[in-house]
Amino acid sequence: MKGVILAGGAGTRLYPLTIVTSKQLLPVYDKPMIFYPLSTLMLGGIRDILIITTPEDNESFRRLLGDGSAFGLRLRYAVQQSPRGLAEAFLIGADFIGDDACAMILGDNIFYGNNFSRMLKDACENAEDNGHATVFGYYVKDPERFGIMTFDEQGNVTSVEEKPAEPRSNYAVTGLYFYPKGVSEMARRVEPSGRGELEITSLNEMYLNEGRLDACIFGRGFAWLDTGTIESLIDAAEFVKMVEERQGIKISAPEEIAYRNGWIDKQMLLSSAERYGRSPYGEHLKAVAEGRYYSNIK
Ligand code: DAU
Repeated sequence: MKGVILAGGAGTRLYPLTIVTSKQLLPVYDKPMIFYPLSTLMLGGIRDILIITTPEDNESFRRLLGDGSAFGLRLRYAVQQSPRGLAEAFLIGADFIGDDACAMILGDNIFYGNNFSRMLKDACENAEDNGHATVFGYYVKDPERFGIMTFDEQGNVTSVEEKPAEPRSNYAVTGLYFYPKGVSEMARRVEPSGRGELEITSLNEMYLNEGRLDACIFGRGFAWLDTGTIESLIDAAEFVKMVEERQGIKISAPEEIAYRNGWIDKQMLLSSAERYGRSPYGEHLKAVAEGRYYSNIK
């Protein structure tokens, strides 16, 4: 199973914050935004990950994440010349993906909730063993802003539509997608939309038409956070701060996930802690390495 993080885009809605840096490197409370989607793929057990960025920002991501060994990962990097649409990720990543199933997550999507790892692993299995794609639905009050799906009483997806003016449901398709092998070939058949983009929704529609699109719906206790505007960025930071302070945990610390998954050893975790110095994040990693943390947290 491969993973792709799409972290390009112009980020114009966050100007001037994103004039000289990538949106996906901006802080969400105590860590760069990219740590969250990276953690999501890792929770699904995915270790081969391609990070796609703008040409200008590629080097910054490399400086932050390196070859991935500190996270027990094999990271690769690629560039998207201009934001030509989400489905282009599978064309850019075609060689990297090869003949494998592949998950894709948008670099600005934050997920948090119970049982998430299980859902991710199920989606991996569904792609690898059943040849089915999985998308994740989330009830929202403003569905016209998103890709939307409808489904029947058995939970089968019946339609997907990109930002319809009159949405037929309140279920947004979130920025996390799992596809079986062959996704790059499928993406090659996507035609640019009216706004000139290779839409992920068009790709999803192809799987739907073949009877190979499944949906997993997040319940109301689940958090899917947006970071596209100043307000939503601050809201996301406040959410992370509140949960972390209340529980004394860290949300989406990739080194901690790697350690708990057995991908890095204590020594490596301590080296990472050292890299981050006496920041709360560094202190947290040190505490985890030294066993001063609950190891039975679910
Ligand atoms: O967040 C979920 C939504 O993401 C889905 O519900 C929609 O179906 C999907 O089209 C997408 O909608 P957005 O309007 O949020 O897409 P946006 O153009 O804002 O791009 C999402 C992120 O991906 C953003 O951080 C920029 C980045 N991006 C976007 C495009 C079009 C790229 O890296 N490359 C691109 O070509």
